[in-house]
Amino acid sequence: MATVFAIETSCDETAAAIVKNRQVCSNVVASQIKIHAQYGGVVPEVASRSHLEMLNQVVDRCLVESNLTWSEIDGIAATCAPGLVGALLVGLTAAKSLAIVRQKPFLGVHHLEGHIYASYLSEPDLQPPFLCLLVSGGHTSLIHVKDCGVYETVGQTRDDAAGEAFDKVARLLQLGYPGGPVVDKLAAVGNPQAFALPEGRISLPEGGYHPYDSSFSGLKTAVLQLVQKLKKEHGNSEGDSSLPDAVINDLAASFQETVAKSLTKRAIACAVNLGLQTIAVGGGVAANSGLRQHLQAAAAKHDLRVLFPPLKYCTDNAAMIGCAAAEHLERGHISPLTLGANSRMSLSDVMELYDV
Ligand code: KG4
Ligand code: ZN
Repeated sequence: MATVFAIETSCDETAAAIVKNRQVCSNVVASQIKIHAQYGGVVPEVASRSHLEMLNQVVDRCLVESNLTWSEIDGIAATCAPGLVGALLVGLTAAKSLAIVRQKPFLGVHHLEGHIYASYLSEPDLQPPFLCLLVSGGHTSLIHVKDCGVYETVGQTRDDAAGEAFDKVARLLQLGYPGGPVVDKLAAVGNPQAFALPEGRISLPEGGYHPYDSSFSGLKTAVLQLVQKLKKEHGNSEGDSSLPDAVINDLAASFQETVAKSLTKRAIACAVNLGLQTIAVGGGVAANSGLRQHLQAAAAKHDLRVLFPPLKYCTDNAAMIGCAAAEHLERGHISPLTLGANSRMSLSDVMELYDV
């Protein structure tokens, strides 16, 4: 059983964790959400600086909370791709330095492989093959998980990620950042059938539509046009064009319903066609109550198992990175200390990170 100290700084969470195989010994996350909220989204330069300020204390706290000593750690890991390069470099450099000083093997981890491994933390008996529906602020993918390091991305968004769509719609409704949680809350009291919104579909050259790929930018534009029309209708003589709360709730509910149905339809079709029995959901949008309801109901109809890990493992964290690294380390996969940070990297190239 490998015990790994892992660091994650790919976006706006400064995180460290110690994981013994699939068991979490400690998990510390310092979120930057409040810092970025004032700008309405993540500012890369601010994220890097904040990682630098927070990382030492996060690393120290992680070791203390685990009740372990460095001598009990078998390897040091960090997310190296994809993500904001300046942010990635902070965690990557710290992990390499720790590996040199403590004389441990070093492992770079692909962030999306980490999201896949989040499902193992709450379901340690889970075994590939299974389908991972990864829905976050940066990604919307359907991944066929075949083995450790062997992934096939069978579906993805062609434009905005699902979480990004929630954030953009929340911004145009002036609901603040991040948008997903507040849209979810308002949707609970709105009517999902109030407005008919278009589900983004990807046409195929030979006719018909791509069964697994999605698109959310058209939906966002449709909400924008609908909001402009509704504002005109509700505008009064003093020039106030703000929308009544009930209309905003209905907009949130209709938008959420469209996204949840679109993701559910693709995930179920994909699992059924590939003959996979389990769908493991990950990423911040896994918290969405509309998605949970639709996916669970559809999966039950098709006799499929759906796993929603606890939210602390769905949103960015280092425990999922440590879990992936522990399995690679057990298989003898180690990264060279010359490994760099990479803002874009395909999940199918994961094994390029290791000397095997
Ligand atoms: O996985 P995550 O923490 O960070 C990324 O790697 O992107 O996901 C953050 C995203 C944000 O876009 C946020 O609006 C969305 O997840 N999110 C939600 C909910 N909670 C967070 N979206 C819909 N419903 C929610 N309840
Ligand atoms: Zn992520």
